[in-house]
Amino acid sequence: MPPASGAARKIPSPPRLRGGREMGRRRPSDSATHRCSGRCLAGTVRASRQRADHRRKEHHEQYQSPRDAGPGAGAGAMSTFTINALAGLALLLAATGLFFFATTRGTLIVRGLAGGRRSSESHVYPIYSRMGLIKLVDFQPIISAILLFQYHRLVSKIVAGLGSTNLKRKQVLITSCAFGNVIPRTVEAALGSGAEKVVIADIIRNELTHARGKLDAQYGRRIEYVEEDATAMHLEEGFADANIIFFLLHELPHDLKVKTLSEAGRMLAPGGKLYLGEFHKPAPFVLKCLSWSYFKVFEPLGLALWDSHDPVAILQEMGGWTVERQTFFFGNFQIVTATRH
Ligand SMILES: C[S@@+](CC[C@H](N)C(=O)[O-])C[C@H]1O[C@@H](n2cnc3c(N)ncnc32)[C@H](O)[C@@H]1O
Repeated sequence: MPPASGAARKIPSPPRLRGGREMGRRRPSDSATHRCSGRCLAGTVRASRQRADHRRKEHHEQYQSPRDAGPGAGAGAMSTFTINALAGLALLLAATGLFFFATTRGTLIVRGLAGGRRSSESHVYPIYSRMGLIKLVDFQPIISAILLFQYHRLVSKIVAGLGSTNLKRKQVLITSCAFGNVIPRTVEAALGSGAEKVVIADIIRNELTHARGKLDAQYGRRIEYVEEDATAMHLEEGFADANIIFFLLHELPHDLKVKTLSEAGRMLAPGGKLYLGEFHKPAPFVLKCLSWSYFKVFEPLGLALWDSHDPVAILQEMGGWTVERQTFFFGNFQIVTATRH
């Protein structure tokens, strides 16, 4: 039927969109959007922006470096590093302690359990008898650390004593070798004071060979190396004007401590000096506890130096000595200088 008025108007068909969708013609799914007011549309845009922002943030967090991660994350990474470093250090200390225990007291315990007769060398740790171990351990920083970095001061006290003595045409004895530079320094001081010869005595041949390695090039024939037991010396009585014993006593069974001091005196000429480096009972409570624990674990024979086998008391009881003692590092170490009458 024609329209009620006017000419029939052709309604233009809506322009087609690409994909065949007609503009203006609603799809069922568009209806909600279409019905949406301007305010609603703005909300939708805002939400989609927020989602995009969130995704961007997530991506950034995934790929940023710890350095860029802000102070909180930096502290987290730092604390992980600190924990790992502390764990590594603890492991290193434990391994070092285990190594020293196995190559010192541990072996003596095993020897004791295995039975057998006590020889003059039974108390000597493998760390002093096996060349591989001697070479592995004789490293100045390690040796200084074992003596709480007092090694240099202790040796200097002996060197000063030798330096202030006239040793012209005299002989000097070093009873037992020791790690570090104590032997080269005391040899240099003795020869510098005019000594014509230094005799180095040790019960272990490897130790003498090792000591020779440190001295031969510089001092050659002025040094004599003898295999000797400090508790029963065969060298000529009274031949030496100075005798150095550096950290030997604490490793010896108690009866041998006394014998060693007696033999040290027998080797000295009247007026000759004994220089004795050793541990001593420290004064501060904490250091006493730490030192006591060290001795209990590693060197139980050393604790007697604190009381029942104090070398100064032994020498005074023996008689024939004038004894001086200087302590170091809160009393943890001592150098005893004893002059033979
Ligand atoms: C002096 S003590 C320990 C020194 C100290 N821990 C250091 O090296 O710095 C070790 C030395 O004493 C020696 N020794 C142990 N008992 C001995 C004895 N009865 N007579 C001679 N030397 C002895 C060992 O062979 C070793 O060379």
